[in-house]
Amino acid sequence: MNNPPLISLFPVSRRAAGRRLLGAWLLLSLSCGAGETGAPESPVPPPALGPSFARQEFFLHPGDTISLIQTAGDSPVPPDGWDLVSSRPEWFQVNPQGEVRLTEAALEGIRSGTLVSGEAAEVRARMGGVLAEGEGESCLVILRKDPRRTLDGEGRLRDPGDYDALVNKSRRLPSSYIPPDLVLVETPTCLEMEEVRKMRREASAALTELFRAAAGEGFTLVARSGYRAYRTQEALYNNYVFTQGQEYADRYSARPGTSEHQTGLVMDITSPEMNYQLEESFGETPAGMWVAANAHRFGFIIRYPRGKEGITGYAYEPWHLRYVKPALAGRLHSLGLTLEEFFNLP
Ligand code: DAL
Ligand code: ZN
Repeated sequence: MNNPPLISLFPVSRRAAGRRLLGAWLLLSLSCGAGETGAPESPVPPPALGPSFARQEFFLHPGDTISLIQTAGDSPVPPDGWDLVSSRPEWFQVNPQGEVRLTEAALEGIRSGTLVSGEAAEVRARMGGVLAEGEGESCLVILRKDPRRTLDGEGRLRDPGDYDALVNKSRRLPSSYIPPDLVLVETPTCLEMEEVRKMRREASAALTELFRAAAGEGFTLVARSGYRAYRTQEALYNNYVFTQGQEYADRYSARPGTSEHQTGLVMDITSPEMNYQLEESFGETPAGMWVAANAHRFGFIIRYPRGKEGITGYAYEPWHLRYVKPALAGRLHSLGLTLEEFFNLP
């Protein structure tokens, strides 16, 4: 998932073909009776060939600039007549040289937490106001926080409140970290302890929507364990070690400071069918399968998927839902990636 700066060459033959198509397009628009404004009255097929991107997806780190295209020799960038257009110019700016960077508004959005990794813009080629519609003539630029800048010198997260924070065995939360906006969730719960019935406000609202949608499909879900303070996690982990042994504990329970539950962005969920327990078989129940297929629409991911234990460090947990906002959840779902893989971090 490394993202080297790019690299595409425009073969001369493609540029020539583009110009031929532009000529054909102009003739067509004249024969269609373009008015004084130049706007054709009937639909005109867009040019089929434009600048070609070497890859379809690029990661953009805040503060960085990436070059989408590069021409051979002294050819202009992009080639004569073509320009590049971003689908989200308010956040992703593309200049005439094919360089993409985030706008000031986007950087402010990242600072305030409204904009997270996974947001993306499509960049397409345009000629004479018409977008090219061809294979390789658009690409996706995906925002990804710069992994190099997210840890302090002690291996702790600098921004533990980020919705896209990557917390795992090698990326700890400060022991003193308490999320800023914990609320009691509004969904049904099954544990007495008040603390674990809490989540951060936005995650709680998303959980309510997820449970409502599940109910609409006939599935009853129950929230079991959400926010856990550092000391609560410490007691839980020590109890696992005491009852099950160290090796088992480290497959299922995070050491204090390394649990996502401390972020307030997690809820372990279950169902009456599971007798309110957390077991792997939840993933095979109709409710569990519905959750796996739909949680991303509400901003959640199954954080510890089957078959990724070597990457996440934890056994399959179909019940552990992590809120990352819908943009990143959707991206991870469609790419089939864990947070570690998306950020290319251990
Ligand atoms: N069960 C997960 C890994 C935790 O303890 O945070
Ligand atoms: Zn959990």
